[in-house]
Amino acid sequence: MTTKSVITIERHIIEAERQYPEATGAFSNILSDVAFAAKMIAKEVRRAGLADILGYTGEVNVQGEDVKKLDEYAHEVIFKALDHTGHLCGMASEEVEDFIPIPDRFPTGKYCVLFDPLDGSSNIEANVSVGTIFSVHRKISDHERGCAEDCLQPGYKQIAAGYVVYGSSTMLVYTTGNGVHGFTLEPSIGEFLLSHPDIRIPSPGQRIFSANEGNYRNWSAGQRALVDHLKGVDGTNPKPFSARYIGSLVADFHRNLLYGGFFMYPADSKSPNGKLRLLYEAAPLAMIAEQAGGRASTGFTRINEIEPTSLHQRTPLYIGSAEYVELAEQFLAQDA
Ligand code: AHG
Ligand code: MN
Ligand code: MN
Ligand code: MN
Repeated sequence: MTTKSVITIERHIIEAERQYPEATGAFSNILSDVAFAAKMIAKEVRRAGLADILGYTGEVNVQGEDVKKLDEYAHEVIFKALDHTGHLCGMASEEVEDFIPIPDRFPTGKYCVLFDPLDGSSNIEANVSVGTIFSVHRKISDHERGCAEDCLQPGYKQIAAGYVVYGSSTMLVYTTGNGVHGFTLEPSIGEFLLSHPDIRIPSPGQRIFSANEGNYRNWSAGQRALVDHLKGVDGTNPKPFSARYIGSLVADFHRNLLYGGFFMYPADSKSPNGKLRLLYEAAPLAMIAEQAGGRASTGFTRINEIEPTSLHQRTPLYIGSAEYVELAEQFLAQDA
C-alpha cells in the first residue's frame, strides 16, 4: 500500500529554511515553537466550557478591553513557549502594554515575535471560531538584548507571519515570503499536517464582504457609498454581494483567503484609526494576503508600508481579494 506522504509543519518549515543557506535553524525553531503553543491553546479552546477558562479575569488591558481568562491563558502559553529558546530579542503582545524583554536568565537571539494571543475573544463564550495571529521580525536595534525598536518595523520587513484559526478544525496558516501554506491539526497524533499547500486567493473572488454595519451611522460618505454599492441599494451593482461577519478577524479573513471576498474595519467618527491593531493583526494578515495574491490597505495606502510609531497603534483595514480592495479604495477616494 503506497502511503500518501504526510508532511508535518516541522518538516515543511525545515524544507522551506533550506532555501536560505545562511539559515541557522533558529527561524524554524520559532515557527515550530509557535505551532506547539497553538496546540496547547487549541486544547483549552476545545474544552473552554469545561475548564475554569471562561469569563473575565477582572483586569482591563491596554486596549481598554475586559481581559478574558483565555486571552491571558493564550498569552502565557505563547510567552512561555518562546521566552527561553535563545532565538528572540523580545516580544510584543496585545495583552501587554510595553515591549516584553527576554528574562535575564535566558539568552537572547536575533528575532522578535509580535502576537495577538487570542483574536475574537468576545466570541469564545458563544463557541464561535477564534484565532491567534503572529508576526516575526529580525532584530534591528543595537540594544544589547532587544528593545521596542525591534518591534516597531513596517510590515514589508516581516520575515514570517501567520495565524491559527480554532474553528471546526484547528488550522495554522503561515508564510515566510514563499507562498502561503495551511496545516490542519490531526488531534489523534497532535501534529499539524499540510492540508492547503500554496494557497491563492481565488480571482475573481466570491462576492462576499465583511463589515460591522452597526457602525454605518459613524462611517464616512465614501464608506457608506461603498457598502450601498456592494448591497445593490444604489442601483449601480447588477450583482450584489453577500454579507458575512463572524466578529473574529481571523475567521473572517480565513474565509476570504479560501473563497475570495474581502473584510473591512473602516475608520469612523468614533474611531478615526479604526479598531484593529497594526503590528499584530493587520500587518501579519496583510503579508499573508499579499503572498496569496490579495491586497491589504488602509483604504488609501498599503498596510505594509506604514511606519509604526507605537506598539498598539490602530489602523483602518481593507483586506482580501485585490479587485475588491481596489474597489473600496475607489469609493473612499471621495473622502480624501
Ligand atoms: P481581539 O479579540 O483580539 O481583541 O480582536 C477583536 C477584533 C477582531 O477579531 C474582530 O474583527 C473585531 O474585533 C470585531 O469588532 P466589532 O465587535 O467592533 O465588530
Ligand atoms: Mn482583545
Ligand atoms: Mn484581535
Ligand atoms: Mn486578542
